[in-house]
Amino acid sequence: MRKNIVAGNWKMNTTVEEGIELADQINSRLEGKEKNCEVVICVPFTHLTSVNAVIDKDLMGLGAENCSEHEKGAYTGEVSAAMVKSTGASHVILGHSERRQYFGETNEQLLAKTQKALEHGLTPIFCVGEVLEERENGTFNDVVASQVEALFSLSPEAFSKIVIAYEPVWAIGTGKTATADQAEDMHAHIRKVIEDKYGKEIADNTSILYGGSCKPSNAKELFAKPDVDGGLIGGAALDADSFMGIIEAFD
Ligand code: 13P
Repeated sequence: MRKNIVAGNWKMNTTVEEGIELADQINSRLEGKEKNCEVVICVPFTHLTSVNAVIDKDLMGLGAENCSEHEKGAYTGEVSAAMVKSTGASHVILGHSERRQYFGETNEQLLAKTQKALEHGLTPIFCVGEVLEERENGTFNDVVASQVEALFSLSPEAFSKIVIAYEPVWAIGTGKTATADQAEDMHAHIRKVIEDKYGKEIADNTSILYGGSCKPSNAKELFAKPDVDGGLIGGAALDADSFMGIIEAFD
């Protein structure tokens, strides 16, 4: 059966020193704790190796926030999936709305990145989500379906290794959360889109996380929904207490 996952996305926050401290705080709080979800922290590239050295991998996974669609070579400033993997990371966020919006990442590119991540044994946390205008003009189900369908040339075996994160762009960093019902409706829709392509077993086993102003005060209600399998957390992942509060929503 699918896993519950709480993943932090630190985005472009913290220096290496601050990141080590935050990772260490989260690690200490997880020690000896019974938890009902997998925990992952996704950190800037610069932090991966040092954070890897201070966390216990039995307690949490480590992820990057992006990787290149290319294997290696003359791509100045890029970081490959093999490089990410070699730091000790297990996960990589792909297709975050900030990458799509500010860096023009396309569906084709994201498929190539996903293939690279999978080739190198990383678990992609693949983000989808509509912008406010699409929510308001009613096209949001189609928009999100087409973002998921961008991966449909993957084999069933490859697709079954992916975690999906639904992040309505209008809810990211705005303090405006999707209601638990809005999240559930979209997650069920995503699961149906996956089922239509890959069948019920793969759809039922795909973890679909919610992201967008998720915090300790609303996590329980969101995670109680049958198709919401956890969260991808931005702002609230930058503080050990609030991140733990979200993890504890599964208690
Ligand atoms: P916030 O939790 O800050 O809204 O960010 C969500 C997000 O983008 C996680 O990837």
